[in-house]
Amino acid sequence: MKGILLAGGSGTRLHPMTLAASKQLLPVYDKPMVYYPLGTLMLAGIRDILLISTPADLPSFRRLLGDGSQFGVSITYAEQAKPEGIAQAFHIGADWIGGEPCALALGDNIIYGDGITTQLQAASSRAEAGESTIFGYRVADPERYGVAEFDSNGRVLSIEEKPSTPKSDWAVIGLYFYDARVTQIARDLAPSARGELEITDLNKVYLGLDALRAEQLGRGCAWLDAGTPGSLLQAALFVQTVQERQGLQVGCPEEIAFRMGFTDAAALAQQAAALGKTAYGAYLRDLAGGKLA
Ligand code: DAU
Repeated sequence: MKGILLAGGSGTRLHPMTLAASKQLLPVYDKPMVYYPLGTLMLAGIRDILLISTPADLPSFRRLLGDGSQFGVSITYAEQAKPEGIAQAFHIGADWIGGEPCALALGDNIIYGDGITTQLQAASSRAEAGESTIFGYRVADPERYGVAEFDSNGRVLSIEEKPSTPKSDWAVIGLYFYDARVTQIARDLAPSARGELEITDLNKVYLGLDALRAEQLGRGCAWLDAGTPGSLLQAALFVQTVQERQGLQVGCPEEIAFRMGFTDAAALAQQAAALGKTAYGAYLRDLAGGKLA
């Protein structure tokens, strides 16, 4: 199972913050935004990751994440010359995917909550077995998102992109697990009226094939979309609140790597040393020392 992190786009809703910096590199409290969806893919057990971003921003991502070995994963990089749709990731990544199942995480989506790891791993197993998965989250403003309608057994009945009259309150979050057919299906997609290869159109093809399942995130989970100044601040305050109350990190790739068995205590200690006197570094040191078991 492979995973794509899509971290392109121009971040216009965050101008002027994103005039000279990638949105997905902005801080969400104490770490760059992209750490959170990277951690999500890792929790699903994915260790082979393609990061796609703009030609201007890719060097910064490389500087931040390198080859991924510090997190026990392999990170490869590819350019998206223009933001021509989320599903374009599967054109750009086609050769790298090489006909395997592949997940896609948007670089600005943060999820957190009990039970999510089980749902991620279930989605990954289904993708290996030939079915794709979307994740639903109940929101107060579904018209801003892709919206899915479910029957009483949680089966997907319909999916629409930003409908003016949503059929449900269930937003489709920016995390998708696709089976091995994904590159072929993406190749056959036509651009939408706004000229983009829509992820919702890709999902509709799977729905038509009766190969689209859904994981509905419970009300005890958080899905944060840090795409506007207000939601960016909310996300930061959420992370700070949970971290300071529990003394545990949200979305820390070094910790996830360690707990998933991708790295060991020596690797953690090395990372901690590189982070010097920060609270983040101290946390990794405690983790390596067995204090947070
Ligand atoms: O956040 C979840 C929503 O993401 C879903 O509910 C929608 O179905 C899905 O279409 C998408 O909606 P957005 O309006 O948030 O899409 P946006 O164009 O803002 O792109 C989402 C992220 O993906 C953004 O951080 C930039 C990145 N992106 C987007 C496009 C279109 C790229 O890197 N390249 C692209 O070509």
